[in-house]
Amino acid sequence: MTDNNFIEFKNVGKVYPNGTVGLENINFSIPKGQFLVVVGLSGSGKSTLMRTINRMHDVSSGDVLIDGKSIIHYKGKDLRNLRREIGMIFQNFNLVKRSSVQRNVLSGRVGYYSTWRSALGLFSAADKQKTVEALQ
Ligand SMILES: Nc1ncnc2c1ncn2[C@@H]1O[C@H](COP(=O)(O)OP(=O)(O)OP(=O)(O)O)[C@@H](O)[C@H]1O
Ligand SMILES: [Mg+2]
Repeated sequence: MTDNNFIEFKNVGKVYPNGTVGLENINFSIPKGQFLVVVGLSGSGKSTLMRTINRMHDVSSGDVLIDGKSIIHYKGKDLRNLRREIGMIFQNFNLVKRSSVQRNVLSGRVGYYSTWRSALGLFSAADKQKTVEALQ
């Protein structure tokens, strides 16, 4: 690995519990600061690839490195720290329609709060200000 590589996939495979192959022997490196577009047919594994990076599911084989560290066995605090560094916009947006626009944006900050504070919506004034700026 060169020091410049930020995300690396090494022989990554993902087989879903029903036997469907989502990823097969995927190898690539993304250097820091690179803007990358992944293009492929429906069902080719783009979403599976994204879910592998933020560990929404486990891989079946191979390794994924972020900033030189293998993330495939992360649990607990390591996993929470990894996820809060990743911004993810879901294919179907996953907006909570009964919540306000601001509350939906604030959900991107829940990784920085205790469970009870985020459940009660007790976000800081600084974070609320950030959402206003982001929405503008
Ligand atoms: N939870 C799952 N269980 C079983 N198979 C799945 C699951 N999720 C995805 N697949 C299968 O894995 C393969 C890759 O799907 P994936 O959703 O990653 O494709 P995609 O490239 O994101 O497609 P699209 O462009 O339609 O969003 C497909 O064959 C799909 O049917
Ligand atoms: Mg998809």
